[in-house]
Amino acid sequence: MRVDSDFNYRRSQQGKSMSQRTRIGVLTSGGDCPGLNAVIRGVVKSAARLGCDVVGFRKGYEGLVDPVSYIPLDTRNTMGIINRGGTILGSTNKGRFAARVGVEDRLDLDPALLHGVARTVDQLSLQGLICIGGDGSLAVAQQFHEYGIPVVGVPKTIDNDLSATAFTFGFDSAVACATDAMDRLHTTAASHDRIMVLEVMGRHTGWIALHAGIAGAASVILLPEIPWTWENVCQKILERENVGKRFSLIVVAEGAELPDHGIVRQRSADGCGQDLLGGVGHVVAAELENRLKRETRTVVLGHLQRGGPPTNFDRVLATQFGAHALRLVLDKQFGRMVSYQPPTVNSVSILDAVNRISRVSETSSAVIAARALGVSFGQHPPGTPPSQLSLTREKQNHDESDADERLLSDAATEI
Ligand code: F6P
Repeated sequence: MRVDSDFNYRRSQQGKSMSQRTRIGVLTSGGDCPGLNAVIRGVVKSAARLGCDVVGFRKGYEGLVDPVSYIPLDTRNTMGIINRGGTILGSTNKGRFAARVGVEDRLDLDPALLHGVARTVDQLSLQGLICIGGDGSLAVAQQFHEYGIPVVGVPKTIDNDLSATAFTFGFDSAVACATDAMDRLHTTAASHDRIMVLEVMGRHTGWIALHAGIAGAASVILLPEIPWTWENVCQKILERENVGKRFSLIVVAEGAELPDHGIVRQRSADGCGQDLLGGVGHVVAAELENRLKRETRTVVLGHLQRGGPPTNFDRVLATQFGAHALRLVLDKQFGRMVSYQPPTVNSVSILDAVNRISRVSETSSAVIAARALGVSFGQHPPGTPPSQLSLTREKQNHDESDADERLLSDAATEI
């Protein structure tokens, strides 16, 4: 069926002059992530095979209006970009279209802006506009759709926080980066008998922390979704010491709330943007050093997680998203967003997508498996009275000499 409709579509384009050919717009909005270029390439290459033209708007939604800024995209100027991080179109999470998050708490766009965007779409004779972005950018796309602008969404974010798709591209690359950092921290932590705290991104969800924590063999994973206590984190570290493991790795999500002190922010939202999270890793390290009197260090991975080449998984997912988004435009399925519903790529309404944030569930198989292996989430194991969870300093000192002897053999095999 699909092949037939592609064939018919190609035939309908044959013999048309350049000005009559179907033209589609594409843009990348919000924070960048690995795989954006692979989506652009997926759109352009599949469009070219069907005889359609593509234009790419610069700097996200900003390029759509006052001043309009775009470049024609073709198979030549998108060649060799599948493995390139960032976005050849540029992006922004600030400006006139920023932070129109969600639907319930949404900020309506200025009608003059919407009118300007509709005029650009009309003047360039665009059959549709493919908007590649996270929840905030997709909320903007939804407002375009309600205004009658023909849009299709493609979900991107390293945070993986959209329920409407099993994975967003960029997430796997961010996890790979964080896991690599964990591998590197492991060897130095073991050499120096240190506690290492790795702070990763993810905003208000703990997907990156959970996956990097499991893949990188963390002892403790601290997430926004699971309340934790200092005592339980210390307890895990002391338990490890008791069996001779005198180093520990902790992964903390930037949005993990401190016990009784909430989220650590670098900067609060200023009305046209989002809160800038970050800093919890340093707080965790300082508190553990104070409580345990052990050397503790922090690494804040930051934007390294957003840069560099996409993983194979992200390249494949992004390519499918690009080709599928083009198909949605040609089929006039506007107001839809491509979505990965394993094993296939499908679509959902953008409205549904922006309304549902995906958070780590305590009962997810990944959390259950991690717990089964002894990973601590800083929480009491169900049914354990807190009093049984504290080790005395005396007991620790007693164990230290035994532990020293066991250390060399254990450290070689255990992570
Ligand atoms: O949403 C992606 C993300 O990288 C978050 O994980 C992080 O909190 C935020 O963007 C950082 O934003 P900025 O690039 O504006 O510092």
